[in-house]
Amino acid sequence: LRADALARIAEADTLDTLEQHRVAFLGKKGSISGLMKTLGGMSPEERSEAGAKFNALRNEVAEALATRKAGLEAAALEAKLASETLDLSLPAPDAPTGSVHPVSQVMDELAEIFADMGFAVATGPEIEDDWHNFTALNMPESHPARAMHDTFYFPDTDEHGRSMLLRTHTSPVQIRSMLNEGAPLRIIAPGRVYRSDSDATHTPMFHQIEGLVIDKGIHLGRLKWTLETFLKAFFERDDIVLRLRPSYFPFTEPSVEVDVGYSMEKGRRVVGGSGDDEGHAWMEVLGSGMVNRKVIEFGGLDPDEWQGFAFGTGVDRLAMLKYGMDDLRAFFDGDLRWMKHYGFAA
Ligand code: PHE
Repeated sequence: LRADALARIAEADTLDTLEQHRVAFLGKKGSISGLMKTLGGMSPEERSEAGAKFNALRNEVAEALATRKAGLEAAALEAKLASETLDLSLPAPDAPTGSVHPVSQVMDELAEIFADMGFAVATGPEIEDDWHNFTALNMPESHPARAMHDTFYFPDTDEHGRSMLLRTHTSPVQIRSMLNEGAPLRIIAPGRVYRSDSDATHTPMFHQIEGLVIDKGIHLGRLKWTLETFLKAFFERDDIVLRLRPSYFPFTEPSVEVDVGYSMEKGRRVVGGSGDDEGHAWMEVLGSGMVNRKVIEFGGLDPDEWQGFAFGTGVDRLAMLKYGMDDLRAFFDGDLRWMKHYGFAA
């Protein structure tokens, strides 16, 4: 039995075969286990002699099984290593790189364009009080324009008893700049604004850029030149014409709504544009006007000495128009496939 067992173990060439042998010799019903069971029927002298032999045999077979198993496992590992090669000369896969959000890119572009025209960047708090956001912009408490802003209010008032809110536009920065810097002034104020509104073209948080010039002898012609220069640079085309339509904002007088037109033959895809008889497509892009005398007074300046113009527009909307995007909400979904499609992510 011993010679046979050791020979078969030595010949086993797979781990499965080896396991079958283990069961056949040492398993509960195995041949060596069977020998062990015969000890019970022996006399004490026979048993101690036979017991020692059987134990030795069992140990020897167990050891042979373990040795063969280790050998087979080592061979299997060798074979695996030989078959799996690693080519260190292959190029590494690209790691995804971060990129600047389209809205931030457009804000940077705007700041650069206006910097070339001598405008500094001003900022104000997103958590505003209703005096800066409304009252000082000629919207007293009962003013109907307040209701049009769908304002997010805080439950508390500040130490002056003013209601606190999330600013609904960047126009309060006009007041803060006049009060802090005085005149003359030439600033833009890009930033986040909030209104309780949400659909394909409105998100509760969006971005505006405000412009304010305060100086002596400012008039509408200066406003028109500034906006034309800015819009040509931003849309990167010279065939742009402006259309100024009379409008109303409490903080500007007169107020003008500005549409940008471009010839459709040379067109590029622009969302929201509508055509006219002369082959122009028009897009409504910003609100503006001459700063209301009352607003200049609220800014701590003498309106007989200082005049100004102001404009405000949605940055997200400008980005959509320039890059032909059609759903504002996509800006805030963080979908990299969308970013890639518009060339904003690597
Ligand atoms: N604040 C206005 C708005 O949010 C835009 C505007 C700014 C209009 C400055 C005129 C002058 O719609």
